[in-house]
Amino acid sequence: MKKYVQVGCGFRGIGTYSCPIVKKYSDCAEFCGVYDINRKRATLVSEFAGKEIPVYDDFDQMLKEVKPDAVIVTTKDCDHDYYAIRAMKAGCDVISEKPITTTFEKALSIKKVQEETGKNVTVTFNLRFHPFFRRIKEIVSSGVIGKILSIHYEWMLDTEHGADYFRRWHREYKNSGSLLVHKSTHHFDIANWLLEEEPLYVNAFGTKCFYGPTREKRAERCLTCPYKNSCEFYLDITADEQLRKIYYDCEDADGYYRDRCVFADEIDIEDSVSVNVAYSGGAVMSYSLTAHSPYEGMRLCLNGTEGRMEIATVYRGGIGYDIKSEQTVKIYNRQGEEINIMIPEKSGAGHGGADDELLDRLFRYPNSPDPLNQHADLRAGLMSAAIGIAAGLSMKEKRQVAISEFFEELK
Ligand SMILES: NC(=O)c1ccc[n+]([C@@H]2O[C@H](COP(=O)([O-])OP(=O)(O)OC[C@H]3O[C@@H](n4cnc5c(N)ncnc54)[C@H](O)[C@@H]3O)[C@@H](O)[C@H]2O)c1
Repeated sequence: MKKYVQVGCGFRGIGTYSCPIVKKYSDCAEFCGVYDINRKRATLVSEFAGKEIPVYDDFDQMLKEVKPDAVIVTTKDCDHDYYAIRAMKAGCDVISEKPITTTFEKALSIKKVQEETGKNVTVTFNLRFHPFFRRIKEIVSSGVIGKILSIHYEWMLDTEHGADYFRRWHREYKNSGSLLVHKSTHHFDIANWLLEEEPLYVNAFGTKCFYGPTREKRAERCLTCPYKNSCEFYLDITADEQLRKIYYDCEDADGYYRDRCVFADEIDIEDSVSVNVAYSGGAVMSYSLTAHSPYEGMRLCLNGTEGRMEIATVYRGGIGYDIKSEQTVKIYNRQGEEINIMIPEKSGAGHGGADDELLDRLFRYPNSPDPLNQHADLRAGLMSAAIGIAAGLSMKEKRQVAISEFFEELK
């Protein structure tokens, strides 16, 4: 049985990894220890998982004592590289949450150590395991639209989900690399996965006009805000038991406020972005992300040599907007036919069932056949993050960025 330890015991770490490993995978995975800079939060793992899990005060000491087969990295994005590299150097495989990292320098360091150590790095792109996206991949792989020549991709985060990234660490480039890295890494991975090509050139524009210091009635955080009764973004982190325990009850240890104001000065990430990508096999993509849409969903159009596929989903409404969730796929071929494809209903489980399937693959069936290439390795993580990081650079330096400036093999 393989031994696992985890670094980073926040909402994702505890909910998606610690609890299921103990409750569902204890026959095939031994969960041996956790580390977090906030010890209080790390001790919650045992409470939520219902089993005593050793809490370590030092990451390296944990590796030394436990000698785990793999380290699960669920800290904030800018720290993934530090733990992934230390884990590999200590002889462990790495299971890293997305994005693999936030800068080209860090990406290249991870790549170098992986090549030196030969350890396995998995990047947990759960969207590849979502029944909807798996079906899209199957349809594309069947060749019905031929070779994909261009992609038109739009992702909408609503005013609840989208706003959440502006409340805490994600809102600063130095922590998340911006939404183009933190969030869009999922979407770029889907595009790369469907195309089976690597990105070569990136050009981007972005604005921050919705969140950030756009309103005068604001305060440091919702909890103590004098405008809480009138602000539509007010979040009471004490009302939800999980939010209260994981964040509010632990904030005296590190000052991590989960409910900071979405109109704060320190926000430096964009809330609307537009990106163009040219790929190694000749495909081109136009992509946009909006973090303040009335509803949450996406549109993805694939133009191929044999036809066009139009994919649309609506997941839910944002603040004050109730909307029916739906997902549609239409294929237009060159014989004048319009084909409507039925896609399985969303299940209620984590991210539409994607998390369950991902964990099954990671812990129960790591060596089972993978005909759709759903298991994402380090290269996939690097290529997806590279688009977002390059997009940030493109905006900062007002120029087109070649991925080969950093990954020489793409010259
Ligand atoms: N795949 C998905 O759908 C999905 C969803 C949510 C989050 N995530 C990813 O999971 C990771 C965690 O996200 P989250 O929402 O749980 O964040 P979070 O802020 O709730 O948790 C992060 C945890 O890491 C700890 N931490 C911060 N800096 C650290 C450091 N230097 N060393 C050790 N511990 C440190 C914090 O104390 C906290 O407990 C992120 O990388 C995020 O991108 C993925």
